[in-house]
Amino acid sequence: MKRLYFSAALLGFAMSMSAQSSKVEMDRFITDLMVKMSLEEKIGQLNLASNWTYVTNATLSEEDKAIQQLKDGQMGAFYGFTNQEMIRQLQEIAMKGKHKIPLMFGNDVIHGFETTYPIPLAISTTWNMDLVEESARMAAREATSVGINWVFSPMVDICRDARWGRISEGGGEDPYLGGEIAKAYTRGYQGDDLSADNTAMVCVKHYALYGGAEAGRDYNSVFLSRQEALNGYMNPYKQAAKEGAGSYMSSFNEFEGVPATANHYLLTEVLRDQWGFDGFVVSDATAVNEIVAHGLGDQQEVSRRALQAGLDMDMGSNAFVSTLKKSVEEGKVSMVDIDLACRRILEAKWKLGLFQDPYKYIVPDRDKKEIFNKEQLEFARRIAQESQVLLKNDNNILPLKKDAKIAVVGPFANVASEMQGAWSMSKHANQFVTILQGIKEAVKGGTVTTCEGSWVLNDKNLEESVRYGLMKMFAPNMPTPPIHTTPQEDLIAEAVKLAKEADVVVACVGELNNMTGEGASRVDITMPDAQQDMLKALKATGKPIVVVLTTGRPLVLNWEKENVDAILNTWALGAEAGHAIADVLFGDVNPSGKLTTSFPRHVGQLPLYYNHKNTGRPHPDYEPYRKFVSTYMDVVNGPLFPFGYGLSYTTFEYSDVKLSANQMNQDGKVTASVTVKNTGSRQGKETVQLYIHDVYSTSTRPVKELKGFRKIDLQPGESKTVEFELTADDLKYYDHDLNFVCEPGDYEIMVGPDCEKLSKAVLNVK
Ligand code: NOJ
Repeated sequence: MKRLYFSAALLGFAMSMSAQSSKVEMDRFITDLMVKMSLEEKIGQLNLASNWTYVTNATLSEEDKAIQQLKDGQMGAFYGFTNQEMIRQLQEIAMKGKHKIPLMFGNDVIHGFETTYPIPLAISTTWNMDLVEESARMAAREATSVGINWVFSPMVDICRDARWGRISEGGGEDPYLGGEIAKAYTRGYQGDDLSADNTAMVCVKHYALYGGAEAGRDYNSVFLSRQEALNGYMNPYKQAAKEGAGSYMSSFNEFEGVPATANHYLLTEVLRDQWGFDGFVVSDATAVNEIVAHGLGDQQEVSRRALQAGLDMDMGSNAFVSTLKKSVEEGKVSMVDIDLACRRILEAKWKLGLFQDPYKYIVPDRDKKEIFNKEQLEFARRIAQESQVLLKNDNNILPLKKDAKIAVVGPFANVASEMQGAWSMSKHANQFVTILQGIKEAVKGGTVTTCEGSWVLNDKNLEESVRYGLMKMFAPNMPTPPIHTTPQEDLIAEAVKLAKEADVVVACVGELNNMTGEGASRVDITMPDAQQDMLKALKATGKPIVVVLTTGRPLVLNWEKENVDAILNTWALGAEAGHAIADVLFGDVNPSGKLTTSFPRHVGQLPLYYNHKNTGRPHPDYEPYRKFVSTYMDVVNGPLFPFGYGLSYTTFEYSDVKLSANQMNQDGKVTASVTVKNTGSRQGKETVQLYIHDVYSTSTRPVKELKGFRKIDLQPGESKTVEFELTADDLKYYDHDLNFVCEPGDYEIMVGPDCEKLSKAVLNVK
């Protein structure tokens, strides 16, 4: 035992020596290189560009400005290229340059690459960090096979307002869970060896606080105190830095009156000085130029401010390459500023191993073998099975019998590409498995009928612009099939007819891919009107209705909760959606997803989040209106479905929470434990959640805060005791002076299946 310890220590020492010597080697290499580089060439490294027309057009154009810039040593990296041959050609041009500095290739690999996995919000509802990590590792394998070595992921913006379309891209409303997710993605993409040919550097985004956009309107200003920002939003960004994230992307929003892209407090004081991040920061697309619209100066001035605030690379503005040389000549920017940014970018290239072998990812046919292969599709199905949340299941209508007569109706029943969700640009999208296909393959002895059932939205112009707006911008020559060609009454009549002939109706309804994601905020987040009309007509048939919901955000589902028999929230599940949905609908897989965002009863409640403050006049979440307390007249405070909630086909019973001691010193440890029993007749997975509440503190604290969770698997009748070890670190928060402290006093420790059904014990901290 002793010898083992001795050799492990020696190994650790040897590893840290080798890390040090490779750092020395890297520093020496980059210093030697930078001595030879001109000012223009250094500024060139700070430039990142794309040309989206290449996504559809497979050949590089010599006339393209970005290609010219590359030849002139004015380009450090490209993004958006997904074609191995094109990436090789661009790298060849770079390697013909005077100093042979390789390019990095970035891309929006958000939830899988060509094999699309569930949207990140759906993945977060697995509460399974091994799966999160695996999704990143699998995506990196696929993406690197074409030469991409830098992924614009994870997106870890906390969001409390479902109007914001980008809520679909993140991990929900909780900063602790968000932090665990950020670490898992970072580990998955970067692996143990960033220079391997199947790992990629992460770009943590959008730094910072982008999800706090006022009124849920995209790109909008963020008004948060530093204390609330640090306590409620920043943990995911912080955890990614601690996990060794290689780069960050600054966000579009302003914070404290300064756009994040030029915000010294965020980019330097917090990220680098407090968290020790030593990689580079890239702006979001055109964000440097956008600081002009924010009103901070002309292009030259905003470029100076951004660089000096701690921004290293300019995405898509061409602002650094257009102005920084002049600023140096005028004495507004120093060579030290330029060198620092340039060095950080060259270091990233070194860490990726690009100076050793700029073509290492690009192995002929590797992409053909890696992309959309069997292993990828098996994984896509497995993760999609676990990313579904069962919101309602009256009279155990689910699981369905495989020999039933099933009517599968609705505009999402059979559209492969709508299984993608936002931020998927897969060229395989028309091969994704639809809900109808999944159900048809699963039935045994039953019958399946189907129809479109309804339009998506009654407003034709709006539906057209939602469907085709993005395509018209980036691929104007793509055909846009006409919509609303069949009258809505006829579509509904057909659905009603099929429902009457069936035992059960599976209604496939929800939001189009483009109704969430970037620039896709909504003020009305109820079920889109045309589809609710269909649901109402189906209800009138008296047949049982199972809603299979496709959505990228929490929706207001009051009518559905009242009127349908079951609601399975499937978000957008990606390439294997239909198979995974059928697996759950027919009970081959027991659903185990739990919400990571509160589902509101009314849009007027937003922002809505479980970890809110108490106020001086609190009012219980589900009690009706009363005067002079903090509530609304027309709706209760509580959500329709709370954070942490999700049903299973089995049932779980929780014992009361027990503490190993009722007191703890600042350097001590206490274990909270609870026993969970599967009291139903099926195997099932359950996520056990631990929350705390600081009873008295020097600043106000949330009514509860998640601080731990475990996902366990139980056979019928089986019990497991789940233990959570608590230390002062778990109880720390940023106090009024922004010190990260655990204040002495009583803490309520609460454990249960969601944020509401909790048993409580009290821990006193000395
Ligand atoms: C803008 C988006 O905000 C960001 O998430 C994305 O990575 C970049 N564009 C690049 O496509």
